[in-house]
Amino acid sequence: MIRKKLIAGNWKMNKTSADAASLAHELVVSVGAQPDVEVVICPPFTALESVAGAIDGSLIKLGAQNMHFEASGAFTGEVSAPMLRALFATHVILGHSERRTLFAETDELVNKKVLAALKNQLRPILCVGESLAERESASTLRVIQSQAERALEGVGKDQAPSVVVAYEPVWAIGTGKVATAEQAQEVHGFIRGLLTKLYGEAAAQRVRILYGGSMKPANAAELLSQKDIDGGLIGGASLEARSFVELIKAAAAAT
Ligand code: 13P
Repeated sequence: MIRKKLIAGNWKMNKTSADAASLAHELVVSVGAQPDVEVVICPPFTALESVAGAIDGSLIKLGAQNMHFEASGAFTGEVSAPMLRALFATHVILGHSERRTLFAETDELVNKKVLAALKNQLRPILCVGESLAERESASTLRVIQSQAERALEGVGKDQAPSVVVAYEPVWAIGTGKVATAEQAQEVHGFIRGLLTKLYGEAAAQRVRILYGGSMKPANAAELLSQKDIDGGLIGGASLEARSFVELIKAAAAAT
């Protein structure tokens, strides 16, 4: 097995520090020693420290949902990669569609963040995805190519395997509409092809490509059995221990 499956929970703007620590603790009890699947949880910034404490000593890893590309300075309201590292974060979600559409993040900005994350030994979970209008006008692959190539500009072949790519069709996020396994595999295979062109076969085969968008225990097995679907980036179903644990079990069964 070249790629270990990865299940990441994006808790978005949910849970206080105490609530987050309590969910993290429940996860540690159920899946904290699961060696077959890499598990990452991404609470809000305000809960990183309490969650780091709750998962300490387990195999569960910590991620943030965003960061600034500078290390420090006059950037009111922002958080940097060294600050995340100091709280034991290992991953950071970058370029989520909610950041792109609600907070006007551009490909250029996402690229700066990806480079800063890698420089600070944080693994970026780089999100790409098309809108419904883009899918309906048959622009999906063009949009994905442009987002991925621009976000990865300047990322070297040796750094590429540290990047996790998340394909999140915007129309499937929080809508209950999930991409079919065929639709998802088509895009995942396309992303693998792009990575192969950029970094060569060996490096591209090591990159995990996650699916995100209404992934739930009921649809996970089929998605996770696809050749280029290496895990999931889970929103709603990661907010409750039972469903998130079932997703981790589905990933373990698919390996
Ligand atoms: P949902 O699983 O709630 O659709 O969210 C997906 C997502 O945006 C993960 O980053």
